Amino acid sequence: MKRIKAIYPGSFDPPTNGHLDLIERGSKIFDELVVAILRNPEKDPLFSVADRRKMLEAMTSGFDNVSVDTFDGLTVDYALRVEARAILRGIRAISDYEYELQMALMNRKLQPGLETVFMMPAEKYSYLSSRLVREVAQLGGSIECLVPDLVEQKLREKIDVAHKFANREQSAGKTPSEGKGKFRKKKL
Ligand code: PNS
Repeated sequence: MKRIKAIYPGSFDPPTNGHLDLIERGSKIFDELVVAILRNPEKDPLFSVADRRKMLEAMTSGFDNVSVDTFDGLTVDYALRVEARAILRGIRAISDYEYELQMALMNRKLQPGLETVFMMPAEKYSYLSSRLVREVAQLGGSIECLVPDLVEQKLREKIDVAHKFANREQSAGKTPSEGKGKFRKKKL
């Protein structure tokens, strides 16, 4: 019997419980699922690719048929290289659909043999995105239940380091880079 391998490509900056929910669902319908982190030199990510990989590896260690990898270039080329037959993507709401449809059709044009499979995460994650998690965490809001504990811890560590850096700048008499950098100092 033919085994079906799929890739789940994305930025995962940081990975969230919504991603994990989708990975779990994907792992149940595909024989093999590769979570593929895009190495995008044009983006200025919060977490390095190595950090994201470590977090995803820890998050998926309980799934026998899930692995984590990184790639650059076209997703379809990567899929072909690893002999995947499908691309898994999540759709949270209608607002995701237009962009996802465009991508899926472009990928089909580039590589007609490859199918995109859309899955919906649990409703409780329908508003959840990496961008919002970054923003809420940086502004001191609670991200409990939105990301796995280890991701929350990594986010807190990053924010503490950024705050220490901002404090040092301030005490050295420099203008604090409030609002410009990745982190704004939390107002007490
Ligand atoms: O998590 P994201 O940022 O929504 O993931 C987007 C991703 C990585 C799936 C998309 O940007 C992508 O496939 N990039 C690789 C380059 C590529 O293949 N571009 C053409 C897409 S039609």
